[in-house]
Amino acid sequence: MKALITGSGGREHALAWKLAQSERISEVLVAPGNAGTAREPGVCNVPLDAADQERLLAYALAENIELVVPGPEAPLVAGLVDRMEKAGLRCFGPTAAAARLEGSKGFAKEVLEASGAPTAGYREFTALEPALRHVDERSAPMVVKADGLAAGKGVIIAETHDEARAALRGMLERRTFGEAGCRVLVEDFLEGEEASFIALVDGEHVLPLASSQDHKARDDGDRGPNTGGMGAYSPAPVLDPAVEARVMHEIMRPVVRAMRGNGAPFRGVLYAGLMISPEGDPRVLEFNVRFGDPECQPLMMRLKTDLLDLIEATLAGRLDQARASWDPRCALGVVMASGGYPGSYAKGRRITGLDSADSPLVKAFHAGTAEEEGEVVTSGGRVLCVTALGESVSKARSRAYKAVSAISFDGAFCRSDIGARALARPPN
Ligand code: AMP
Ligand code: GLY
Repeated sequence: MKALITGSGGREHALAWKLAQSERISEVLVAPGNAGTAREPGVCNVPLDAADQERLLAYALAENIELVVPGPEAPLVAGLVDRMEKAGLRCFGPTAAAARLEGSKGFAKEVLEASGAPTAGYREFTALEPALRHVDERSAPMVVKADGLAAGKGVIIAETHDEARAALRGMLERRTFGEAGCRVLVEDFLEGEEASFIALVDGEHVLPLASSQDHKARDDGDRGPNTGGMGAYSPAPVLDPAVEARVMHEIMRPVVRAMRGNGAPFRGVLYAGLMISPEGDPRVLEFNVRFGDPECQPLMMRLKTDLLDLIEATLAGRLDQARASWDPRCALGVVMASGGYPGSYAKGRRITGLDSADSPLVKAFHAGTAEEEGEVVTSGGRVLCVTALGESVSKARSRAYKAVSAISFDGAFCRSDIGARALARPPN
């Protein structure tokens, strides 16, 4: 069977790499992919924009694609699954109605409240004056969020009242996020440790994947500006079996039940971004309706089950009978980024040393890379996620950093402390 993955990041490279290992897959096509997917055995790039639904659909029909796996969220929110299914194609992801869990933070809050799932207290505004008055009445820090998709930039942690006011003015007055910021949430600031709880959901049943954690801040010690993620590892010791059981019981199952009750059953990957309080209580920060990037890279390194089997069990509503088995080792991925990221950065820098990160224990998943005259060059902010397996977090980490040190391009940087929180905790 031929499968089509949409997107061009590290997550999509990891999904393509894993799916191509399935015996039942003859070819994985990636639209548009990157230099990593172009070079992956059994994988081929197609020069189509991941957001161009019409051309993707025409291509999938013409090429007899039997399974479509969308990588990023925006096409899901825009109805890619609805469109593919209407044309009779199998597409692994939520419908537009269910993808609102990520597409509208206000909608996600309504579902969380209706399900009784723990999350930060909040108020919602569409007009500036009442929002400013609300900010005056409460204490800092607080969190200001644009309701809609804002490419990971719509969340502002306001340490002071002035910062909160400036964020509100930007969103509601100057429309810095366009439509996405017409509605804003002012939310309580939660303390604790973040973790990613990623599960497959078939409308009714929830199959949790292995736990993981990413590092959103650019600099060591979780300092500096927020990014798409500078590295990730799995498993995440903060999600011990007791906390995981609570997340399933208090969050995942009630939310999935509420979505069914809303007439928008959720099917696909449901990723709850959690804050685990110092007392060990999980609370939802946000939902994503797709795999995390870079969490997907260590997860795919550890997944032993055929990914196609899991996707098909999800599409068939059979997740209650499915099992995911995991490599007991730890996987840890370090993102190598272009100097200047998450701001502006140069592109077209030649990357050398990639061969040193290609073994059964180490894999350099590509993100912002392209091919130019037979060479691999940079083409994005996050360039690679160098991922390694190891018997312990520290072994996976030293293996990943050793591979990183052999790869170079002008302006490359990475965090040097990926996995620090896991190392600070005793293993479960
Ligand atoms: P979100 O897109 O909602 O996950 O927010 C992006 C990042 O902002 C999260 O990964 C957290 O680091 C942080 N964040 C969001 N909401 C809160 C909150 N209520 N309290 C503390 N940090 C938050
Ligand atoms: N790693 C965070 C995300 O994928 O949203």
